[in-house]
Order: sequence, then structure tokens, then C-alpha cells
Amino acid sequence: MPDSPNFFMREFSNEELSRLLADKVRELKASKSQVEDLNVKLQDTISRLEETQQELNLQKEQLQEQVRIKTQELLKAEKLTVIGEFSARISHDLRNPLSVISNICDIITHQYSKTDPKLATYVGKIKKSTKRIHNQINDILDFVRTVPLDKKTNSLKEIITRSVSESQIPKNIAINIPDNDHSIMCDGEKMQTVFANIIINSIQAMDEKGVISIEIIPHEKSVSVKFTDSGPGIPEDVLPKIFEPLFTTKPTGTGLGLSSCKNIVESHGGAISVRNDPTVFVVEIPKN
Ligand SMILES: Nc1ncnc2c1ncn2[C@@H]1O[C@H](COP(=O)(O)OP(=O)(O)OP(=O)(O)O)[C@@H](O)[C@H]1O
Ligand SMILES: [Mg+2]
Repeated sequence: MPDSPNFFMREFSNEELSRLLADKVRELKASKSQVEDLNVKLQDTISRLEETQQELNLQKEQLQEQVRIKTQELLKAEKLTVIGEFSARISHDLRNPLSVISNICDIITHQYSKTDPKLATYVGKIKKSTKRIHNQINDILDFVRTVPLDKKTNSLKEIITRSVSESQIPKNIAINIPDNDHSIMCDGEKMQTVFANIIINSIQAMDEKGVISIEIIPHEKSVSVKFTDSGPGIPEDVLPKIFEPLFTTKPTGTGLGLSSCKNIVESHGGAISVRNDPTVFVVEIPKN
């Protein structure tokens, strides 16, 4: 009777059945722990995948932000190149008629200063204005021209002294020149422009009264020149923009001073930084 349930019972002894059962239980236990191991591994893989996904998302966002910034920079650079070329041409063409006006002012002052003092005053004002335009033109030309650096060993103290003596310092402004000195490899003329721009900004900010302290601080491979002024400081919303070309808060400013400083300092492999309370500009240049 192969279909009877008793058929199997008769085939296996109790002993055999318990052994078989025990084997089955062992097998099942082994597969259960294998499944558990696999489950742990799977969970681990899933959480690692989730982490990778998060990292990828973060990297994607960072890349998108970089692309956005670079695109803006490129657009700005392109705009500046066009403005630069245009300004350079106009500035250059304006220099000659300005020189003519300035020379004629000198002739008039020379001839009429004694007989007509009022005329001499007016002409003096014209001359002063032409000088201001001339300086602004020079700023623009300095900014757009890319003259290669003429690097030599220069004494920083000498450059500082020249920058101060060639700037017009109002009598109520004191400038403290450092006692120590250090020599660095740099383009002396350009570095003088950097220091003069920083000093002139401080003078303008201090409204003709205050103190500018200049220090030379040597480091192992570089030297810092630190300018501290007793002016009102730079408003927090203005601070991040001051090195941008054409940014100015002054009615007659061109907003190229600090941008030129940054270009010159960075072309020397250095860095320029600023902070408030008190207002401090630091120019750091490598020694070689
Ligand atoms: N020492 C300072 N104290 C306060 N504000 C300052 C100082 N130096 C710079 N600034 C701010 O930074 C801005 C940018 O300076 P930057 O020299 O580039 O241009 P500018 O002086 O306005 O014009 P210019 O092209 O004639 O130099 C200034 O308009 C001013 O608001
Ligand atoms: Mg300036």
C-alpha cells in the first residue's frame, strides 16, 4: 500500500528519524545564520550605497556651484576686457588734449597771476581738475595694461618712503614709517603703486585727520607690510566687494585702486588682505 501514511513510518526507525531530523535542524540553523550574515552584509552595502549617494549629491551641488561662479567670472572677465580696451583707447586719446589744457593753464597763470589774481585762482582750479582727470586716466591705463614685472632686489623701507613722499599727505595726518627694513625680489614701481593706493585710501577715509602706521613683519619665506589707519573702518556690507574692479563708494573714485593692488600683489605670488577694528591692510610678498 504505497499510498498509506503508514508506509513511510515503517521504512524509518525512530532512531533514524531523529537523526534525520537533527541533521535537518542543523542544516536549517546553518542556512539561517548564513541568511543572517547575508542580511547584515546587505544592510551594510545599502548604507554604504546611501552614503555614496549622499556624497555624490554633495559633489554634484559643489560642482554646480563652481560652474555657476566660473561662468560669472568668465562673463565678468569678458565684459572687463571689452571695457578695458575701450577705456584704454579713450584714456590714451584724452591724455594729449589734457596736457595742452594743463600747459595753457601754466602760461595763463604765469602771465596774469600778478595783474589778475582772480583769473589765476580760476585757472588754478582748472589745472587741479585736469590733474585729477589725468590721475584717473593713469589708474585706468595701469589697470588695463599688462606690463611684465621688472623684478629686482628692493628695500621695502625705501619703497614705503617713496610711496609716502609721492602722495600728498594733509598736515593733520601722521604717517609712521617702520624702523626696520627687509629686502625682497619685486617690481619696485608696481609695489610703490600698491602702497600708495592703500595710503591714499586711508587718507581719504580719515577725512584729512588721523594716523597711518606702517610695519614691516618678516616671516620665514615672505615679508608682510601692514598698514593700520585710525579711520572709521569699512562697512561690513562693503568689505567683501572692495577688491572688485570698478567698485567704489566715492563720488570721484574709479574703483580700480584696490583691484590693481590685488593684481600686482598676486602677480608677485603674494596676497593682500583686510580687516576692521582698526582698519588693517596686509600685503604679504614672498622673499624671492
Ligand atoms: N582704509 C579704508 N577705510 C575705509 N574704506 C576703505 C579703505 N580703503 C578702501 N576703502 C573702501 O574700498 C573702496 C574701494 O577702494 P579702491 O581703492 O579700489 O577704489 P576707490 O578708492 O573708491 O577709487 P580709486 O580707483 O580712485 O582708488 C573705497 O571706495 C572705500 O569704500
Ligand atoms: Mg582708492
